[in-house]
Amino acid sequence: MDYRKFIAKSAEAFRASEIRELLKVVEARRVISFAGGYPDPETFPRESLARIAYEVVLNFGDKALQYAPTKGVTVFRETLIRWLKSKNVKVLNEDDLIVVTGSQQALDIVARTLIDPGDYIVTENPTYLAALTAFRPAKPNIVGIPVDSQGMRVDILEERLKELKSRGIIPRFVYTIPTAHNPTGISMSLERKRYLLELASKYDFLIIEDDPYSYFVYDEADVTRLKTLDSEGRVVYMGTLSKILSPGLRVGWILANRQLVDVFERAKQSMDLHTPSLSQYIAKEAIERGVVEETIEKAKRIYRVKRDAMVEALSEYLVRDSWWIKPVGGLFLMVWLPRAIDTKALLPKAVEAGVVYVPGAPFFVDESGTNTMRLNFSYPSVNDIRRGIEILGTLVRRELALPAGST
Ligand SMILES: Cc1ncc(COP(=O)(O)O)c(C=O)c1O
Repeated sequence: MDYRKFIAKSAEAFRASEIRELLKVVEARRVISFAGGYPDPETFPRESLARIAYEVVLNFGDKALQYAPTKGVTVFRETLIRWLKSKNVKVLNEDDLIVVTGSQQALDIVARTLIDPGDYIVTENPTYLAALTAFRPAKPNIVGIPVDSQGMRVDILEERLKELKSRGIIPRFVYTIPTAHNPTGISMSLERKRYLLELASKYDFLIIEDDPYSYFVYDEADVTRLKTLDSEGRVVYMGTLSKILSPGLRVGWILANRQLVDVFERAKQSMDLHTPSLSQYIAKEAIERGVVEETIEKAKRIYRVKRDAMVEALSEYLVRDSWWIKPVGGLFLMVWLPRAIDTKALLPKAVEAGVVYVPGAPFFVDESGTNTMRLNFSYPSVNDIRRGIEILGTLVRRELALPAGST
């Protein structure tokens, strides 16, 4: 039977993630993968979580195995708020927090509740691919703002805002990943954060701050959240335990003014009633027993070494006309190769040579960036990082018809 006739037109908006399609190919064979966004499983506190899960089911099973409020398990929300405050995240009111099923759900909720078809929204260009995938079904016009080593070019944002305003348009929100941005690894300077907030106030839009990475930076870095600097309640802040405990638990949160949180709660109710209670009870104990803190420290140790290995290998093996920044945290960096290189066309050759990455173009709102690739350094081993980058360097030189060893 041809099932296409049963499928709603609106379902066409749900495009297959290029990364997930790619990972299917990779799983089938032994290649060095810079493609996914997986944490290193070494960081997972298996024994502690096994003990916690056992105790939670035995001792709190009547609640942990039961339905829970949509907004989240109350005792977990209290613990999470205390922990966020200890990390200098400004929480004005207990009612401002809703627990979500990973920050991916937060993006979906934002798309469903803050965007009407034809609305304008703004993102960094490039931006997190799965955010674009979440926003697009709501049919917004997406304006991409370029980034440099200091983050979003707020000067260019201002120009675009002026131009939009002259046409009577105010964007609904600016979506940003200020620390260790996915895919580029870039962090926004404090000065630009302040400027972005000023623009939000002047032009009257919200800021969606997606922050999975500020909790485990590898160098001395300013991670002041927009949420903490925000004096007008314009920031919708989202976070997750995925990279600092386990993505398998699917626990994230949104912090925003209660009026917005009430709407988010209603949207979430029809999506999944609530985030798994068991995950929330486990997460609560993991925070209270210091397991999250231990995981953060371990992740920092492991990822710092891998990040350094990747950045060194890039300097050693990549042609001189390439550009990237050394990220202060996160799991990724983006490489801008010479214009002549098409990273999508190069990919089959890379897989053949034993290495896979994600071509950068889909991260760009306008599908530009055909000469870019996103590289993940958290999952591959240090040896594989060196070997994989060497292979990529050779491939790029071959494409440019440069002799081996030249830069
Ligand atoms: C910027 C950003 N936002 C959101 C997510 C989704 O994370 P999760 O749904 O696991 O919390 C990720 C995952 O890599 C990410 O990099």
